[in-house]
Amino acid sequence: MSDQAGRLREIIRNNEEHDSSLTHQIKVYSIISGKGGVGKTNLTVNLAIKLQQMGKRVLLLDADVGMSNAHLVLGIEVKKNLLDLIENNLDLEDIIANGPYGVDLISGGEDLFLLEKLDKEKQEEIIRNLAELGNYDVLLIDNGAGINKHSLTFTILADEIILITTPEPTSITDAYRILKAISLYELKNRVKVVINQVPDIQTGKMSFNKLLKTSEIFLNVELEDMGYIFNDIRVNKSVMEQVPIVIKYPDALASLNIGQISKSILEDKNYTNNISNLKQFKNRLIRLFG
Ligand SMILES: Nc1ncnc2c1ncn2[C@@H]1O[C@H](COP(=O)(O)OP(=O)(O)OP(=O)(O)O)[C@@H](O)[C@H]1O
Ligand SMILES: [Mg+2]
Repeated sequence: MSDQAGRLREIIRNNEEHDSSLTHQIKVYSIISGKGGVGKTNLTVNLAIKLQQMGKRVLLLDADVGMSNAHLVLGIEVKKNLLDLIENNLDLEDIIANGPYGVDLISGGEDLFLLEKLDKEKQEEIIRNLAELGNYDVLLIDNGAGINKHSLTFTILADEIILITTPEPTSITDAYRILKAISLYELKNRVKVVINQVPDIQTGKMSFNKLLKTSEIFLNVELEDMGYIFNDIRVNKSVMEQVPIVIKYPDALASLNIGQISKSILEDKNYTNNISNLKQFKNRLIRLFG
């Protein structure tokens, strides 16, 4: 009897290993912030371009559902979005826009009530399909500001979280609140941190250390300093011109900073060995919603 049970377990394990939908690997980064307007979308779009330039096949998911604007920063028009997935029964592949600079985009659309329509099953289905998209190496998820149980789904499914904040005390405090939630719900034990709009390196370091010290005392998350992005007027200019800064002003300080961050992502020793498969995605979902 116990022999039979052992064999059964073996068969299940083998099947799981051979089911490519469960083991296909795509590295997923979710870019989040506490406070709004701190630079998530600009970082995500420009990071996508830099990673693509470094040889990765990148898909960008604008999960700022209802308020999506990554396409504006990327400078493209999108005809379809997540809403079409639900209302017009389209497949994920049908709503991927082939953006410029080799970056593909799925837009979250402009329907403010879309999140309500995106029930748990639908979100799971999207994630399952994303994990099965074989032609991408990296998925970057741009999120709305803050987190709530609903919008968290996309975030917790990521392999890595990139938390972005400015040096402003209000932004740092909100970033800490997010870290607290991540720690409390045991969503991740490691978070990458980017300090944006710094006037100088010293301020960047101080801001990171502030977060680090408090987290070390009170939370159970390890913070990783991913670097700083200078406050650079050319970011605003590139947004106005709807050409991403790394394309329009590749030599601007902010572009160089983002280039450095992309490099550190690819050089990260965890880049390849911390990739989740669908099974792990699902386990995280069950922990939160189950
Ligand atoms: N490094 C920077 N230097 C100067 N300005 C910046 C920088 N990063 C972002 N900004 C400015 O901040 C604005 C907001 O950036 P962005 O839209 O990327 O933020 P966000 O976090 O995605 O906002 P939301 O929470 O609304 O989605 C940009 O339009 C840009 O003008
Ligand atoms: Mg944004």
